[in-house]
Amino acid sequence: MTFRIAQISDTHLSAQKPFFVENFKCVGEALTHELPDLVINTGDIALDGSSHEDDLVEARRLHDALRVPYLCIPGNHDVGDNADVPNAHHVLDADGRARYLRHFGRDWWHVDVPAWRLIGVNAQLYAGALAAADEQAAFVAEAVAGARERRIALFIHKPLFDLHEREDVIGGRFLNPSSRRDLLNAFGATRPALVACGHVHQFRETEVKGGRHVWAPSTAYHIPDTRQPRYGRKEVGFVIHDLRDDGTHASRFALAPGTQNLCIADFPAAYGPMH
Ligand SMILES: [Fe+2]
Ligand SMILES: [Fe+2]
Repeated sequence: MTFRIAQISDTHLSAQKPFFVENFKCVGEALTHELPDLVINTGDIALDGSSHEDDLVEARRLHDALRVPYLCIPGNHDVGDNADVPNAHHVLDADGRARYLRHFGRDWWHVDVPAWRLIGVNAQLYAGALAAADEQAAFVAEAVAGARERRIALFIHKPLFDLHEREDVIGGRFLNPSSRRDLLNAFGATRPALVACGHVHQFRETEVKGGRHVWAPSTAYHIPDTRQPRYGRKEVGFVIHDLRDDGTHASRFALAPGTQNLCIADFPAAYGPMH
């Protein structure tokens, strides 16, 4: 038996600035052909949910219209960024998190499917001072310990690292070192079999220490090479993860017919012009 997850990410939806809604609808249409058991959005659901609650409202409405079972975790554009990200546009605070919870429900969760435990976390809570950060850490430790013989698929907005766990770069693209340490502590000597993230707007699949790290592309847009290195495939789309009950798994990039491979540089009204 195979449990199929369609991972969508970085949908960047908004009513006031609906630049990426058509692409989202194309992905929604493509999902009806992939027949996933569950859809998971790994964050940056809204264009600017941390400043405009309307964007969260519209993103929720568009997800409900998909008429598929779905779960979400927040990205930096939904709740604000980690407190240790230099020059963050918006840092996660209690109000921003409360707004997200109001419209999308819990920002961390676990779900059991045959042979697997799916764990979703709010990456932006790490390195912050909210009590919720400690609550989430306790939740993750318990969810990992309780998985027993199940394999774990971790869903998180930001990639854990570029190439390896001991990277010491502090920035906004990957989980920063102290956050990564806090998260991985919960896993002890073991590692999740699958780490599925978004945030970079590129598709990439790598194998590190027995765990597969799959970056979902954005359904909305890609970021030009002048602003971001090319780690993988810069093309809008989504990812299909097939989790089998014998513990094996496979992931693949999926293209939604009708989508346009939009570039954020062509939408200065979204986040301002690119210099
Ligand atoms: Fe994003
Ligand atoms: Fe992001």
